[in-house]
Amino acid sequence: MSPVAVLAGIGSRLPPRLVTNDELAARLDTSDEWIRSRTGIARRYFAPDDMQTSDLAAAAGAEALKSSGESQVDTVVVATTTPDRPCPGTAPTVASKLGLGQPAAFDVSAVCTGFLYALANAAGLIASGVSERALVVGVETFSRILDPTDRGTSTIFGDGAGAVVLRAGRPDELGALGPCTLGSDGEGVDLITVPAGPEARYFTMQGKRVFWLAVQRMSQCAQEVLRQAEWRTTDVDHLVSHQANQRITWQLADEIGIPRERSVSNIAEVGNTAAASIPLALDHARAEGLIKAGDRLLLTAFGGGLTWGAAALRWPAVGRG
Ligand code: COA
Repeated sequence: MSPVAVLAGIGSRLPPRLVTNDELAARLDTSDEWIRSRTGIARRYFAPDDMQTSDLAAAAGAEALKSSGESQVDTVVVATTTPDRPCPGTAPTVASKLGLGQPAAFDVSAVCTGFLYALANAAGLIASGVSERALVVGVETFSRILDPTDRGTSTIFGDGAGAVVLRAGRPDELGALGPCTLGSDGEGVDLITVPAGPEARYFTMQGKRVFWLAVQRMSQCAQEVLRQAEWRTTDVDHLVSHQANQRITWQLADEIGIPRERSVSNIAEVGNTAAASIPLALDHARAEGLIKAGDRLLLTAFGGGLTWGAAALRWPAVGRG
């Protein structure tokens, strides 16, 4: 029987600078009330100037390794929209900062769907026997690409990192990654983008148009994964969707037919952390004791590209790093 990827550890890290809605409202035409009621966000964290994306990734990765009880991996995959540099990838630097020797190390670029794409990549390497143990990190320093004058994006995004360790195992083990589906539509490239060109450096998003696409695409691929996993909606203990907007999370739960209280949410505390969003939500829910060993999790994300994806996972007995 060929091996499957089993989740063996998890960790996360938020940067130290807490940014409240009131702090943003002091310099932008917005208010704490607008941000909370339209997005569910109360605060987010920004990385200080001397903190690199690879620093946050390595901190989350160290926790995930500790939680897995392992000190070595042979593969490091980093999902990020905000790498340390345009070239080379950030993953080799993360591996080096963690003292992991010379593993395979590469980045995945799928914006807010990045973590699920990275997870599927690492799981594929494990299933094919190329890798036995992989560190998968979702990390962003999104504050660096936000236009400080744009209230439509500056109020939403935050920085952070989440990481998991995958190891080769059996499909009947808790933690085994179940069915996974990924998709894209390049026709929507302009909806979520850092435009190309010498003057362009800031992230732009057509929020209203993206809102319904996010709900539709996540619900479609999440339902596809439910079919593949042969789970009914009532089997799902927790819906862990990309934390883009609390209203999206609720609409999505309604669309799939999962009670809203079964959808995991930490957006109030961290904002939209793009590629870091799902592993951060998982780690926070684990830390609060919300998700327990044996629980059935339905993961789904949507982001720039456009890209989307979903995966099924039985939660393993993993503790704090
Ligand atoms: N503070 C105050 N007013 C704001 C504002 C802010 N931070 N952001 C937008 N507004 C204003 C708009 O300018 C608009 O004003 P107008 O009617 O005078 O033009 C009004 O509020 C409504 O804007 P709209 O864009 O329709 O708001 P919304 O309810 O759709 O919320 C988002 C905006 C961005 C929060 C929401 O569209 C969203 O979450 N989109 C999806 C994001 C997403 O899915 N991302 C996934 C990939 S990361």
